[in-house]
Amino acid sequence: MVERVDSDNEAAARRWFTAFEPAADDHRAVPTHMMFDDWYAALHDPSWPGAVFWVRSRDDDVVGTMVAHTPAYDNRHVLDLGIRVPPEHRRHGIGAALLDVAQTYAVDHGRTTVLAEVVEPLATAQGSSAGSRFAQAAGFGVGMVENHRIIELPVSDERLQALEDHAAARRNGYQLVEFGARCPPEYVDRFCAAQSRFLHEAPLGDLDVEPEVWTPERLAEAEVRRVRQGRDSLSVLAIAPDGAVAGYTQLVVPPTDDGRVAQADTLVLPDHRGHRLGLAMKLRNLRRLQEHWPDRTYVGTWNAEGNAAMLAVNAALGATARERMIEYQRTDGQRATG
Ligand SMILES: CC(C)(COP(=O)(O)OP(=O)(O)OC[C@H]1O[C@@H](n2cnc3c(N)ncnc32)[C@H](O)[C@@H]1OP(=O)(O)O)[C@@H](O)C(=O)NCCC(=O)NCCS
Repeated sequence: MVERVDSDNEAAARRWFTAFEPAADDHRAVPTHMMFDDWYAALHDPSWPGAVFWVRSRDDDVVGTMVAHTPAYDNRHVLDLGIRVPPEHRRHGIGAALLDVAQTYAVDHGRTTVLAEVVEPLATAQGSSAGSRFAQAAGFGVGMVENHRIIELPVSDERLQALEDHAAARRNGYQLVEFGARCPPEYVDRFCAAQSRFLHEAPLGDLDVEPEVWTPERLAEAEVRRVRQGRDSLSVLAIAPDGAVAGYTQLVVPPTDDGRVAQADTLVLPDHRGHRLGLAMKLRNLRRLQEHWPDRTYVGTWNAEGNAAMLAVNAALGATARERMIEYQRTDGQRATG
């Protein structure tokens, strides 16, 4: 009953997306709405290609959806899964049937670790949502837990100014460089090196994932794709007195009507910590965001609870936690090589 959808058939993909997109809203304290073109471009991302599946009823309604991503440039042992069944069709075995197909797809693609994210409102007990119960029943374990924090916009000018003064007191010769869609050529190599460090430094819990390797080609490809997705991005680099990239932060402004801005990576490399660079870079980005996208209502950021430094910076900006995301994982046998 599970069918693979031809993702090059845009009409079919659109129908799939229309069923998938709202089907987890009941799990969300802060529902988000992605636009089809944005998602469709991401589905064809060569570094993270996706395959889509659905289950249709006798009346031809879409009653179950699944997307399976196979990272191509690294983490070639991982299958990243999204399964959604609309609330009115749950507990009839549709999710389990989709997961069976995913398992075969994983084996066919040499993937030994399956990852699946479940988001739950923070007000509910951890692991009590339908998504969590489903994952637990299927033998998944918890790889990592993060909380979704919201910074309401605008952050007041007084607050920004006070924090900017606080951050500047420890700047010690570090410079901030900002850019939009494209990284300036003179920083590309250093920025790629810093991005490649990100997953070495960020908390990963027990997740069976390996750090990403960023090259100038991969960076250029990602930049072009973001533009194709209709996303604006705002980046800030911290440059040490000797010219090294000491850290970076990025915001993504997606094409959506839900008021959302997404915080992407923030990293200050270990040798450069203690200069309030994380705060300084985020403040620079917030200033730019509020000036050019005054209609946006919040920045959403996902943080591990143990990440004290990042939590302190976000708390200073007024962030409050609303949802938790549990990254479930199931590892089957040995990791494939090659
Ligand atoms: C998770 C989800 C896909 C499950 O879909 P489903 O079609 O209802 O799942 P199934 O009927 O195949 O359930 C299989 C088993 O999972 C467990 N399970 C599923 N939902 C459960 C719930 N609400 N409470 C307790 N156990 C549950 C049960 O063991 C169930 O078997 P049983 O019905 O014979 O007891 C659906 O709830 C959903 O779309 N949630 C939102 C998105 C999400 O969190 N996805 C999960 C990870 S990608």
